[in-house]
Amino acid sequence: MSDQAQSLRNLVRHQQQETRTTGTRIITVTSGKGGVGKSNFTLNFALTLQAKGYKVLVFDADIGLANIDVLMGVSSKYSLYHLLKREKTIWEIIHKGYNDIEFIAGGSGFNDLIRLTEEEVDYFADQVNLLNGYVDYIIFDTGAGLSKETLKFIVAANETIVVTTPEPTSITDAYAIIKMVHSMDLDVKFKLVVNRVTDPREGKLTADKISMVAKKFLDLDIPTLGFVEDDISVSKAVKRQVPFTIAFPNSLASRSIGELAERFLAGELVPEAVKENAGVKGFLSKMLKMLK
Ligand SMILES: Nc1ncnc2c1ncn2[C@@H]1O[C@H](COP(=O)(O)OP(=O)(O)OP(=O)(O)O)[C@@H](O)[C@H]1O
Ligand SMILES: [Mg+2]
Repeated sequence: MSDQAQSLRNLVRHQQQETRTTGTRIITVTSGKGGVGKSNFTLNFALTLQAKGYKVLVFDADIGLANIDVLMGVSSKYSLYHLLKREKTIWEIIHKGYNDIEFIAGGSGFNDLIRLTEEEVDYFADQVNLLNGYVDYIIFDTGAGLSKETLKFIVAANETIVVTTPEPTSITDAYAIIKMVHSMDLDVKFKLVVNRVTDPREGKLTADKISMVAKKFLDLDIPTLGFVEDDISVSKAVKRQVPFTIAFPNSLASRSIGELAERFLAGELVPEAVKENAGVKGFLSKMLKMLK
């Protein structure tokens, strides 16, 4: 049975790789309210996609405390800052963490994005452009809330995963960021992840609230990628500085991320989801328009 399931998965993966025509896809992970689990989700989702055979780069665009490098207990010598200041190349700021997952640390450099000279912006764009085709997915972990920089990344990427918890404050803030981004650019595609649910029913109720309001007031369809349980393994793993899918691969949270990743990859087969301007080039041209 499991052999059969495995070959089915291999077949699906093969088809997916053939169907994907746009090269590197750029996805942002964001939330309205802070501390809802974005960084943990981003890192473990990326590791799960990697385990399924995809090449993923995690780009930490967060200037908060629980950064991607902290979640893996590694200190990164160079960050986005060194790229923005033209001190390092893109390859020199890519570090490796657990299972050799590649990531770029955010650091304080992200705030400087708005104060760059034209030469610095061009260097940044040229260097990021080199990533086109290098990985299947670049996943940006953005800071919470409505900062100008976060919004630019979300708009430029065209695809964003909004993480929320079932708490009413998190739900209203998730809707607020969706509304704000949608008002800036009608093309941005959203997907929902409900984190810290007690059971799937609570996850569905939460997702339904957001998608119903988005449909009613913005005429926007927001599919749900999935739910992740509130699971003590997550905070245990954070304390150990090991990603939870590695520290506790059989935990509820890890299994949910696995299912969620399958659903994400299945959705990638839908031609409508593969947008022409979804690659690195599209991302950069939108980003440059907003920066210059
Ligand atoms: N599924 C979960 N189950 C239990 N605890 C969780 C779960 N997800 C996140 N947490 C807890 O929430 C904390 C914050 O998570 P994380 O740092 O990923 O949030 P964040 O949204 O990236 O925060 P910030 O907005 O500050 O960047 C974790 O350290 C962990 O203790
Ligand atoms: Mg974070």
